[in-house]
Amino acid sequence: MCGIVGYAGPRDATDVLVGGLKRLEYRGYDSAGVAVITPDGSLAVHKRAGKLGVLERDLQRSPMPQSATGIGHTRWATHGGPTDGNAHPHLGDDGRLALIHNGIIENFAPLKEELLAEGAEFTSETDTEVAALLLGREFGRTKDLLSAFRAVVGRLHGAFTLLAVHADEPGLVVGARRNSPLVVGLGEGEQFLGSDVAAFVQYTRRAMAIGQDQIVAIRPDGIELTTFDGEPVQGEEYEVAWDAAAAEKGGWSSFMAKEISEEPEALEQTLLGRVHDGLVVLDEIGGGFPDDVLRSVDRIVLLGAGTSAYSGLLGKYTIEKWAGVPVEVELAHEFRYRDPVLGPNTLVASISQSGETMDTLMAVKYARERGARTLSICNTQGSTIPRESDAVLYTRAGPEVAVASTKAFTAQAVALYLFGLHLGRVRGVLPDGESRAMVAELQALPEKLRQVLTQGDEVREMARQMSDTRSVLFLGRHVGYPVALEGALKLKELAYIHAEGFAAGELKHGPIALIEPGQRVFVIVPSPRDTSSLHPKVVSNIQEIRARGAYVLAIAEEGDVAVLPYADEVLRIPLAGTMFEPLLAVALLQQFAMELAAAKGLDVDQPRNLAKSVTVE
Ligand code: M6R
Repeated sequence: MCGIVGYAGPRDATDVLVGGLKRLEYRGYDSAGVAVITPDGSLAVHKRAGKLGVLERDLQRSPMPQSATGIGHTRWATHGGPTDGNAHPHLGDDGRLALIHNGIIENFAPLKEELLAEGAEFTSETDTEVAALLLGREFGRTKDLLSAFRAVVGRLHGAFTLLAVHADEPGLVVGARRNSPLVVGLGEGEQFLGSDVAAFVQYTRRAMAIGQDQIVAIRPDGIELTTFDGEPVQGEEYEVAWDAAAAEKGGWSSFMAKEISEEPEALEQTLLGRVHDGLVVLDEIGGGFPDDVLRSVDRIVLLGAGTSAYSGLLGKYTIEKWAGVPVEVELAHEFRYRDPVLGPNTLVASISQSGETMDTLMAVKYARERGARTLSICNTQGSTIPRESDAVLYTRAGPEVAVASTKAFTAQAVALYLFGLHLGRVRGVLPDGESRAMVAELQALPEKLRQVLTQGDEVREMARQMSDTRSVLFLGRHVGYPVALEGALKLKELAYIHAEGFAAGELKHGPIALIEPGQRVFVIVPSPRDTSSLHPKVVSNIQEIRARGAYVLAIAEEGDVAVLPYADEVLRIPLAGTMFEPLLAVALLQQFAMELAAAKGLDVDQPRNLAKSVTVE
């Protein structure tokens, strides 16, 4: 939530900041603003409610002065609506200090009282403005931005990334982070700050993660990293694994369309180097989870939110089947508020695309405090959750920019499948032959997914015909159930349509009352080849809803003719093992939600009220 950029160097700061904000806009798009230090030693600020485009048009009409230092912000509103006044940057009393913020300052009310008693005037309803006013006043006393910043940051509670500049100190941007993301881009004669590397990857792929409760000062010739108390800290440098083009839309109509098309490659990348002699070997988690520890694990808790929790559900089915360990899946935001029972042999695995979701981060910290070992399944290098975990298994889906998660979901599921196969092998419960067969299925998935994605025109047409639909239900069973939940979530968040996913077996216990003539229902049909005979049960469910007037859209395996008499429309997926078909089916539902949103003229990449990375609780 909220995108943050800072720059100190020879380029025009406004260009760098606006370029960075464009790539961070997925983090929030209620308003945007920039502040730069001008050559005559003053501060120029421009901020506007609305998407970044509004600010950009203003800046084209009346450009900012040339500058070498500045900060930029794109907002997801928490305190105060999306207005010009509430947009960041916020200023100190004399207008010479600018500050931007991501997160929530929990003690802003008493600080505001204090400032009001001292005669301060507020121009916004934000919690951020207290930090700007406090910093401006502290600078008035110390005449030193870095020490003033340190003093103010120490007084704040909550979660925050803060960046600030002062007109009296051109060439310096200071930043601080607590429970909210901030990374440094290390250039030659220029330095960058960003909520994530997308802010600066166009200029440099050398990055440094900023740790919890640390302060960073960037100047063109270098950086200084300390704790909140001023103790020097050695930062951890890393090379960003993707380049700027990966975070560009290219010729696609939306980032989401591009990212769905990248799913096969995301799976290939996630498998890369993790299969040896046909078996899964995850050396990279050996530091936190050596084999003897894995053998002693007696329970696994998978934590995530939204789409990431649904991939966890898929993981539950596979890990339990292949490794024989009980798995619970829990929404991260529920987990730590209910005294969960965690033992020394509980493995807590978090799942997060961004690695910054506050709910998930807090749940991971809580699990660690309670003695559990933690594994992070994450898509973002250098992000906070992996750094707070005992080990990390990276999904390698590349940057995901569209707010709706697509390729990250399938890559997370594949990472969980890999983990299940690794665990089953290490614990000696999964015979090598069976393991190799599952690995072969995984390796065949990317190609099958490519085939699935060729049905784009059909899906578009289906979506167009449903553009006035007000409610869609999704039914699935076994591993089809998480797909139903994910299909419904995609439709809700993108097309603003009432959508619910159900386990098909649950239908008769209540949800069937929702069926009335014309009700659209997607059904994820299991393979007729599956020995557990779920296929006939789901076909019966289809007949039950058809008998009550439902309009059935089936996703069924190629060659499954049993559904034809009962389904109004059928989308096909290639033959794959039971555990793998969901990863094919879900891509069709992602496409469907995207096409329906597009047919309704909605912004596919930036749906209303949402942000990509939810860094507030
Ligand atoms: O970055 P994370 O995977 O931790 O994000 C979790 C959810 O906020 C995220 O999956 C959200 O549900 C997506 N908008 C779904 O498309």
